[in-house]
Amino acid sequence: MPVVTSTEMFKKAYEGKYAIGAFNVNNMEIIQGITEAAAEVRSPLILQVSAGARKYAKHIYLMKLIEAAVEDTGLPICVHLDHGDSFEICKSCIDGGFSSVMIDASSKSFEDNIALTKQVVDYAHARGVVVEAELGRLAGIEDDVNVSEADSSYTRPEDVEEFVARTGCDSLAIAIGTSHGAFKFKPGTKPQLRFDILEEIEERLPGFPIVLHGASSVIPKYVDIINENGGDLKDAIGVPEEMLREAARSAVCKINIDSDLRLAMTAGIRQTMAENPSAFDPRKYLSPARDNIRELVKNKIINVLGSDGKA
Ligand code: G3H
Ligand code: 13P
Ligand code: ZN
Repeated sequence: MPVVTSTEMFKKAYEGKYAIGAFNVNNMEIIQGITEAAAEVRSPLILQVSAGARKYAKHIYLMKLIEAAVEDTGLPICVHLDHGDSFEICKSCIDGGFSSVMIDASSKSFEDNIALTKQVVDYAHARGVVVEAELGRLAGIEDDVNVSEADSSYTRPEDVEEFVARTGCDSLAIAIGTSHGAFKFKPGTKPQLRFDILEEIEERLPGFPIVLHGASSVIPKYVDIINENGGDLKDAIGVPEEMLREAARSAVCKINIDSDLRLAMTAGIRQTMAENPSAFDPRKYLSPARDNIRELVKNKIINVLGSDGKA
């Protein structure tokens, strides 16, 4: 079975009031941890690859590893470019076998965002590939995604119908107060998301799949292990799981998770190295890292996304 697009996944998720997890992948252990968890609970999956991940591992290695996971698990898996910032990178991923791309032109003007998104949609649709676009800007810093709080902005519901109609995009990422990375809310403040904006967008675009980026919960268990073993993530705060469950029941059909994977993996490595300071066989510390990812993803699917049993 080849990789699939997200079209059917989103249709069922919208109607069934659950969401598909979109997990960022960078290497074999991450891909195995995620796909083994999903296979155990029979969940469809989106595996997404950032520009930074392509630079780190090379497109072809990630593509072949994902194809191996499809063969190994028999799951419907969509392979998606995360935060493509140009026509060229989207084209390269489409030509290289991805079934879905994101064109993130959210830093551009409304008209320029429409023009670039439409260019990608035309190229992608002619080749059976689907396109996620973004309106509004999330704050947060990753390798290749870097937006200061001052430059972030909520999505304006009054823009969404025109944007979707003129671009023909297949799903839309919106900004309602989540952000990338492990430091999403100020310490001492109550995490809040603008569900009112999400509701208005849902009313304006009935049946249309919405995407939530920056949706890691920053699981305390893994943060604590990192902090106990020399890390300093004491101000790390994520999106509360109850909010993600609420989003999954709404028009949000795709929930993006990267930071939680990084924390789970790093906790496994730090803990193993602390317990066995002379360990130097990478398999000794990458196995517990992969186990943590498997456990994390299984919990997400069952307790947050509600996509178990839907594959
Ligand atoms: O939203 C961004 C993802 O977490 C990817 O991050 O560019 O560091 O690979 P990255
Ligand atoms: P987190 O940093 O919250 O995991 O968000 C990941 C993301 O949105 C990838 O596009
Ligand atoms: Zn993102």
